[in-house]
Amino acid sequence: MLAAFLPLALSTYRFKKDSSVKKSLKVFVKTYGCQMNERDSEMISSQLQRAGHELIDNEKVADVVILNTCSVREQAEIKALGKAGYLVRRKRTNPNFKIGIVGCMAENLGEKLFKLNGVIDFVIGPKRLHELANILEGNRKNLSIGNPKRQPLSHDFDRKLETNKCTAFLSIMHGCNMRCSYCVVPRTRGNEQYRPMEDIVEEAKFLAENGIKEITLLGQIVNNYGGRLMPVINGKTPFVQLLERLDILPGIKRIRYMSPHPKNFSDDLILAHKTLSKLCPSVHLPIQSGSNRILVAMRRPYTAERILTIVKKLRRVVPNVGISTDIIVGYPGETEEDFAETVSLFDTAKFNMAFIFKYSPREGTRSAELVDDVEESEKERRNQILLQRVQEASLYYHQRFLGKTEEVLVEGHARRGTDTMFGWTPNHCKVLFKASENDIGKILSIQIDGSTTTILSGTIAENA
Ligand code: 5AD
Ligand code: SF4
Repeated sequence: MLAAFLPLALSTYRFKKDSSVKKSLKVFVKTYGCQMNERDSEMISSQLQRAGHELIDNEKVADVVILNTCSVREQAEIKALGKAGYLVRRKRTNPNFKIGIVGCMAENLGEKLFKLNGVIDFVIGPKRLHELANILEGNRKNLSIGNPKRQPLSHDFDRKLETNKCTAFLSIMHGCNMRCSYCVVPRTRGNEQYRPMEDIVEEAKFLAENGIKEITLLGQIVNNYGGRLMPVINGKTPFVQLLERLDILPGIKRIRYMSPHPKNFSDDLILAHKTLSKLCPSVHLPIQSGSNRILVAMRRPYTAERILTIVKKLRRVVPNVGISTDIIVGYPGETEEDFAETVSLFDTAKFNMAFIFKYSPREGTRSAELVDDVEESEKERRNQILLQRVQEASLYYHQRFLGKTEEVLVEGHARRGTDTMFGWTPNHCKVLFKASENDIGKILSIQIDGSTTTILSGTIAENA
């Protein structure tokens, strides 16, 4: 499996144009879903540019629209299907116009997509995105899902670096070996595959050389990097070994990762938050539920007590650490009592942010065979209760920074045409402040003087 990610001819693979391209097309890529998809869209864009096509921002003048889709919840699929339906009209007036569906929904619905929408030209799953440029050259309908016939050569390294960008996602693995009962991801993205550490470090160096200051390591279970294929050395898991190698790279100022699984949240990772100077004091730790009964039903191998232990240890090591989470409400059989346990865990663990999802059955998953027995109105009620809690917790967390000076990495303009800029603190709080375009990519000391549930505001500190 690892052979798939051998570091072959990385430099030649970056931006070299393929002169054999027949016709340059204007391509618009729309991304739905998670950071993985954002990263995949970057890879697609770079691959198509390399093949001589033009990536554009204006969908209306595109020759090809590619929807990079998500399947994780029903709503995500409905949105992309709606968009595909809307694009059909363009096809009627311009038969040369092409519509492609790629990513998780492509893998999940496969051939059905051609039936649902008779004018879709190609459907490509996440494991076969490297075939896109070739597929675009053909004129036949194309279905490319499942495992690739030939493994891609360093496909991961494909990226299109925008100017004035100082943060980047870096995929360190693909797929997921867990089988959480509700989750479609193992079906759409397949089993875990880890990129060689050398390759990842190379890519991080390349990013640093190109002005990137902050990298976010991506994986479905990012802290399971290496799995059983890479050794634990001196009590350090492969993920922590990787973090250590990245921490010493010149140019990279901040390292984040998304998303870890509580099961693999080992003590060496907690300690790394103390010892590694660039590892940011913020962790996204999806709990899904606070009821041990529901966690068993979800096939999540940990308990509410274990979550509290991780959180406690993290706080001991990194005092102001920001900890956010994902929660699903209305899982089949979730009683009022189970829900109360989730609220209680949210409160006790003092998460400062959370994404709340109403359970939706996904075809092919274990839980889809269960009766979806929590009424929609009840799911919504539980959703609202937690959202209220999240707002309060977020405001409470933000207020601790009032009057303090925070190191903010300046990312860009908050609003077009104004001198209000935005950036993020190490704890992952968004901050607004007055600065200039030249400050993008700098870390500025900002005196925090305002806070809401969603944002902090401040001014550049006098002695900065
Ligand atoms: N229904 C609702 N939420 C889901 N998630 C994953 N699958 C489902 C589902 N079937 C949520 C989980 C996960 C996040 C990315 O999406 O909380 O962490
Ligand atoms: Fe889905 Fe569970 Fe894997 Fe996360 S760990 S991607 S929720 S199966």
